[in-house]
Formats: sequence, structure tokens, C-alpha cells
Amino acid sequence: MMNAWQGLTRFKSVVLMGAVAVLPAGCGGGGGSTTPPVTTPVAAAPALSVSAGTYAALQSVAITDSTGGATIYYTTNGKAPTTSSAAYTAPIPVATTTTIEALAVASGYTNSNVTSATYTINLPAAPAITPITDIHQGFIYQIVTDRFFDGDTTNDNPSESPGLYDPNGFTNPANADWNLYWGGDLSGIEQKLSYLQSMGVAGIWISPPMNNIRVNAGTSNGETGYYGYWTRDFMQIDEHFGDDSNTWTAFDNLVTAAHADGIRVYVDFPANDTNPIDAGENGSLYNDGTLVTAYATDTGLTPYYHHNPNITNYEDRYQVQYYTLESLADLDQTNPWVDSYLKTAVTNFLAHGVDGFRFDAAQETNWGWEYSLENTIANWNGPSIQARMPGQPFIFGEWDEGSGDALYPDSVKFSNNSGMNLLDYTLYWQLADVFGTDGSFYDIDNELTLEDTGSTTIPAQAFTQPNDLVTFFDNHDNPRIMSQGADRMAVKQALSFLLMCRGVPVVYYGDEQYLYNDTNSGGVPYNRNGMTGFSSTDATLLIQYLAALRAANPAVAYGTMMQRWINNDVYIYERQQGANVVLVAINKNPSTDQAISGLFTDLAPGSYTDYLAQTMGGLGVTVTGTVRGNNPVTNFTLPHRSVSIWVSAGSALPSIGSVTPRIANPGASVTISGAGFGATAGTVNFTVGTMTLPATLNNWSNGQITVTVPTLAAGAATVALTQGTATSNAAPFTMNTATLIPVNFSVSGTPTLGRTDVIMLTGSVAKLGNGATTWNGAIGPVTIPAAGSALQTVSVPAGATVQFQFFMLHSDGSIAAESTQHTYTVPSSGVGTAAVSW
Ligand code: NOJ
Repeated sequence: MMNAWQGLTRFKSVVLMGAVAVLPAGCGGGGGSTTPPVTTPVAAAPALSVSAGTYAALQSVAITDSTGGATIYYTTNGKAPTTSSAAYTAPIPVATTTTIEALAVASGYTNSNVTSATYTINLPAAPAITPITDIHQGFIYQIVTDRFFDGDTTNDNPSESPGLYDPNGFTNPANADWNLYWGGDLSGIEQKLSYLQSMGVAGIWISPPMNNIRVNAGTSNGETGYYGYWTRDFMQIDEHFGDDSNTWTAFDNLVTAAHADGIRVYVDFPANDTNPIDAGENGSLYNDGTLVTAYATDTGLTPYYHHNPNITNYEDRYQVQYYTLESLADLDQTNPWVDSYLKTAVTNFLAHGVDGFRFDAAQETNWGWEYSLENTIANWNGPSIQARMPGQPFIFGEWDEGSGDALYPDSVKFSNNSGMNLLDYTLYWQLADVFGTDGSFYDIDNELTLEDTGSTTIPAQAFTQPNDLVTFFDNHDNPRIMSQGADRMAVKQALSFLLMCRGVPVVYYGDEQYLYNDTNSGGVPYNRNGMTGFSSTDATLLIQYLAALRAANPAVAYGTMMQRWINNDVYIYERQQGANVVLVAINKNPSTDQAISGLFTDLAPGSYTDYLAQTMGGLGVTVTGTVRGNNPVTNFTLPHRSVSIWVSAGSALPSIGSVTPRIANPGASVTISGAGFGATAGTVNFTVGTMTLPATLNNWSNGQITVTVPTLAAGAATVALTQGTATSNAAPFTMNTATLIPVNFSVSGTPTLGRTDVIMLTGSVAKLGNGATTWNGAIGPVTIPAAGSALQTVSVPAGATVQFQFFMLHSDGSIAAESTQHTYTVPSSGVGTAAVSW
């Protein structure tokens, strides 16, 4: 709204009796006028709460005005404020050097003079990041390769698949086709490794680098496989990411260079499907350049693909695993050729030195088969083209399940029993809500409690290793939180929460540059922005601080996670491992400081400065008391929009933080990471039941040990280490006894199921539940292809003769079992089938 006086430039002001008179130009003011002067006061100039100057911390600037009812308009872009500028409502976070200019406008007043102040922000250098030995001590940076950096222009428009490239992508995205290739490649990532290294990136997760379809599959707008999930050949590197001959050269160069910089490489691997059935190359599948099949010609006795409709019901275990995901040709992983092909492709990547995998659509892939995939990776010992970083491969799968979703309990059971860690979608939905749309911290807190401690009302155990869950708040499938409403401060608060939270954090590329595009509400493909720069920002600085703490303090990598104080806008949580304690306090309220009383901590008595050096507006605290684990923090006021971190680094007890892999066979190499192991070798014991055996030690350092798994019976095990007189915690482990073979167990003639009944499977070996008849102990709930039948792939020890039996489980825990026990001998290789009738 324009102030009445503002536009009247032909009026001029004169000062009369201490007030401002505004008169028509040329009228009055001269001697002899008889018209009494009209007086209109000037609104008071706004006052800024922080003086202009140079600061070593982020600032929050409040603006006030002493004129009653005045509206304050302000700018931060160097332009003079007008009534069209932003109206002031809450303190302005100042993270980088900024000039604030403010104007007060009040009815009956002339607009105020403009108040202006420049804040020069010189943040202190972040602490150095100590080298780490295990991914839990660092974080993963997720890259959509095509959108990161064009390091090799010769592959932009390759002759094998011309016309899929848009040169506007990185330079003029507003005019670009977001579904075409933009030129980013493996060489581009290699060229930007020092940028990643300076932020403390410990691993990169790259979009699938394998060969994608070579034609445009779009009808109107045009869609390509730029983001990597439309595979045609799992044995070759795509010509857009590597070279025209689909060699592994660019891939190998990236792995070598990344490892030299201490950065691990995790490859996204879509084992569920290949490419669109109804467009492009119509589900064509190649084996190192040789056509194997296409969806329409896949009519043999043992099809490579499932031929079912698209998944419509994500609560139906059969649909989820056997139907088609988004029209992508759905591989039958229990076709013996497909089984061997996918496992060969995975071990190929291992031979090329990758440090692990992100398994795409783990939820829609055959769950039982994935146990054998984990087994293949855990026990792989083939010749290497180049070495991995120290440690066994870390694997994680995509399973998008909120805690209220029907198959959430299945996802927990799958992760615990298969050894495949999961992307923590359950937490993701709450992080996006809290930091993206200003939701309540109680939502985060409730999910963490459910995931880490389990539930009594649904058949869900806790995740046995919450520190192995892979946490994130942005990714390539959902709008970035900045498109959901987060501003830069909210992104930095989300980064702070994530990097100090339990789990292995993933930062989505570009968040540190505040990339976002709100077209289509920021959804696909507008969340796959082209990187616009690689400069230092206040977010890269924050990440360095957080990465340095993750690397240095084992409480963050391996410790417990405990909520200490909460309301909708404030979350204070503690990580603890031995005498290492990290207490994190976030206040996301835009304007209200929060008085904190009744806060207790495991920090020892003393004064603690803010580890972030007040770069996030935080403060120091004082701890008193004498009760270990429950010392009072002296009452204090937590500033709005701030993050504070208080740290105590003590001696670490021998404490195992992770065992990778968590499931393996005798003779496999296992990496044990944690703290306080001691410089000289002690003993590592594996225990199954009452039987304990020491493992052969291959390597021993204070934070990491590599052992060979001893020969023990199959089943739930623990791993513990002894150093002198001290013994560590007993970390969970699962013993397999042999290579796991996927077997399709099926039964026909099943009884009619009541609404809450499920069919389960049990049998004589650990992998079949050892005869258990509970939801958590037995195998299942199994899939129901059609009324009267049941089917479940279970990966069981090669060569074993097993007894098995299907049963109906009622919701009260009672069962109705088949009358017969079946006997089956598992083949020594390939895939098995055990079909019986009820
Ligand atoms: C999940 C991936 O994250 C997504 O980007 C992809 O489109 C589907 N899986 C299908 O592969």
C-alpha cells in the first residue's frame, strides 16, 4: 500500500516549530502567507538490534520502531526499501556478509529515514578433520552424476546415443530440458574431489553408472536415462558418464582418485528392474554388449522378467515384490541366469574397488533373494582390479516405508535379518516435515523411539543396529526441503541434526550450495539441479565443523542417542559412548528464545563453550552435580534459530560400534570398528549359544580390527573383544554356515485366511527360523500370489537337507500348521524350487 504522501513529489517539506510541514511547492513558506501550516510528523527511523560491524559468528538482527503502529519494510539486496519490500515480522538471520536497510511507514506520518547497517561475517576456520577408518565416522555425499560437473565434454553427445543432451543444462537451466543429459560425468566428479574432501566427505554415493537405454523414451517432453535407473547392460559403464566404448576407464580413475583422497565410493545398483517396458528400448537387457532378451520376447519357459501389472497396492507383499515398478521391466531374480548375472555384476564392481552399494528399490526386489545377494558380497574374495578402502563393503537399500505403513514391521525384520542396512525413510519423512515445513520435534522423537526401541502394539522389533541406518533429509526422489519451505537457516539446522544423529548420514549434493528449483513444487526432475558452483559457503563451513566432530568423537559415530529436552521447536539430544559425550541443542523457533530448565546430561561438571564457535548463534553452558549420566545443566536461554554443541572427549572403553558385514560365513573377513580397542592386539571372540571361539586377527588398530570369522553353528551370534582386563560390549552378528542359495518355497491348497491371518514358513535351519512359530522368529509373512497359494523365496545354506512347514498365524499368536513336514535338499549352486501342497 502506497503511503499517501509518498508519491507527491511536487510537495516540499519545511521545518516549522519542530514539526514537519508539507506544503505544495511554490505555496506558502514565503513571507506574508496567512494559511496556517499543516504539520505531519516523520515516523521514527527503525532501530537494528545489532550494530553494524565485523563478526565472527552468525547474527540475528531484530528491527524495532518507536512509532506506534509502524510497519517496517526492509531489504538485504542493496536496494533502497519501499513499501513493496519485505515487511518485517521476525529477526533476520545473517549468515553471510549482508547489508540490512529498513524503512518505517505509519499512518499519519511521513515515511521514516532509512536505517542501514552492514554486517561483515568472518566465520572462524573449522577444525581440521582427522583421518577416519570407517564410514560411520564420516558422512556420504549423494551425487546424481549427470548433474554434478561436466569433466569431459567429449562424452556429452556420444555417437552411440546422440541427441539426448541439452547444452543449456548447467548454464541456463530455465531454458533446459530437465529430462535430457546435461553433461555431468565420472571425470567431473573426479575433478571436484578436493571440493568434497575439504568438506570432510567420507564417501560418495553415485547414481547408477551402468549403461542406460540409448534412445529417448519420452512421448511429449522426452525422457532419458540421465539419472541412471534405466539400465540396459549392467556390465558396462554408460557412454555419457565414461566413454563411447563403454569401458571402465573413467570409473576406475574416479575410484583410484577418490581413494587417494580418503573418499569411499558407493554405487547405486538397481537390481529390481531394467528399463521401461512400453517405450525406449522396451526392457531390452544386454550382457556386456550382447542382447539377452526384451520384455515382449521374454516368452521362454523360465522368463527373465515377471510379467505382471504395475504395483498399485503397496501393502500387498506379493505385488510389491513381483509386480512392475513404474513400468520398469521387473527382473525375476530367481531366474537362475538373472541371479548369476546380477551377482556377477555386483562382484564386478567389487573387483573395481567399490566400497559398497546402495540397492535401489530393495523394497520391490525379491526380499528373500536379497539375503543371498548380501551373502555374495559379504563372502566375496575374488581378484581385485583395484583395492577398496580399508574395511568390508557397506551396503544399504532403499525401502520407503513410514512407521505407520503396513509393511514397516517387514522392513525392520528384513534389515535385521538380511544384513542389508536401510535408508532411514521413516526418519526422513519427519526430518522433511520438521525442517521443511516447520513441523514439531516430537515427530522426530517419536520415530527415533520406535525405530530404536521397537513397539509393543505392532509386530515390529527395534532395528538391532540403529547406527547402521542411513539417514538423510533430501534426495533425488523428493522435493528438496528448500522447495518445501525451508530457508537457509533451516537447511543448516537440518544438516546439524543429521550429522550429529545416530546412523550414517547422507548429504544430497547441492544442499551445501542451497540449490533448489520450485518448478513442479520442486519435485522430480527439478530436485536434480545442476551444480552451479563449488565455492565455500556458510553451509560448507558448518559441514566441516560437524564432520570434524564426527571423525574425532566416537560418541557421534557409535554412541547411544538420547533425547534430553523437547518441545515443538526445541530438541536437545545427547550422544554418548564411554566418557565421550556430545550434547546438541537446536531451537528452530523464528523469534522466541527458549528458557531451558531441568536439563540433565552425561557431561561431567564444568563449563562448556559452543563447539560451533557460535557460528550458528549458539552459546556455552555450565554443568554442575556429581551423578554420572544425570548432571544438571545450569538454567540458560537458548537463542531462537540457533544450534549449540557441547562436547566432552574422554577415554573410550573398548566399545564396538559396527561389525561389517553383520552376517557372514566362517572364513569371511569382517571389519570391527569402534573406539578404545588399544594399540596392541587383544582377542576377538565370536559366540553362538554357549560356544565361544576366538577369531583370527588380520589387523588391529585402536579404532578398527579385521578378523576372519571362526567356524561356529549358524544363528544369532555376538562379537566381543578383550583388551587386557577390559571387555567390550557384545555386538550382534549372525553366523551363516555356507553359501546361501535362493530357494522358491511354495505351497498350494492353503486354507482360507481370516482378515488378520498371515501365512508363515518355518524349518529346521536358522535361515528357516529354527522351528519358530512367532511373527518375528519364523519366515514371513510370505507372499500370496493368488487365493489358495503361498510363495516365499528363502536363501538357505547350499547342500543342506532341510525340513520345512508352512503355517497360518492368527493375530493372537496361535497357529494352524500344515500336517506334514516336508524335506528338501538345497542345491549346491544356482537357485532352488521346493513346491508342496498343504
Ligand atoms: C527408486 C529410485 O530412487 C528412483 O529414483 C527410481 O526411479 C526408482 N527406484 C526406479 O528405479
